[in-house]
Amino acid sequence: ELTDITTLLLSRIRDVEDYPEQGVMFKDITPLLADPVAFTALTETLAEIARRTGATKIVGLEARGFILGAPVAVSAGIGFIPVRKAGKLPGATLSQSYDLEYGSAEIEVHAEDLSAQDRVLIVDDVLATGGTAEAAIQLVRRAGAEVAGAAVLMELGFLAGRPRLEAALDGAPLEAL
Ligand code: PRP
Repeated sequence: ELTDITTLLLSRIRDVEDYPEQGVMFKDITPLLADPVAFTALTETLAEIARRTGATKIVGLEARGFILGAPVAVSAGIGFIPVRKAGKLPGATLSQSYDLEYGSAEIEVHAEDLSAQDRVLIVDDVLATGGTAEAAIQLVRRAGAEVAGAAVLMELGFLAGRPRLEAALDGAPLEAL
């Protein structure tokens, strides 16, 4: 059964066929971002999860995790930390590589922005295979911080990202709106 907020959010996600390649149905969140009622509802729902999990920092995953995560951090009154694709952060970084369908990718974080006192909520738009979020969890832990949970707008259930991410979360909650 869908709540009013879930119905609103779903109505603002556009399915784009055959993007970025043939056979892929892309979930476009730009209509949601353009609607202040929907964007605010999403931000407040995620901020409530941040408060409930006792998060002290939001980690947002490039690129759409930046757009969603930053206002959540402001609303919850906590800091925001970007996890970026390799080569984009200027300071001392920790790097984590992870496997893609073909090849591999690498993400990075500024380690000095996290401490042993931090509890981190990871925020992104989509959970697909879970590879990106799993790598982000490893980065947070290698930086010495605790993972409070992960929250995404959408979960693509057929890709089985949930069991993979739940294993990586090791008991911390996974919320998919
Ligand atoms: C997408 C999405 C997630 C990730 C999910 O980002 O925004 O970050 O893929 O996939 P996974 O669960 O299989 O790891 P993308 O890599 O397209 O980067 P972008 O937001 O910078 O375009």
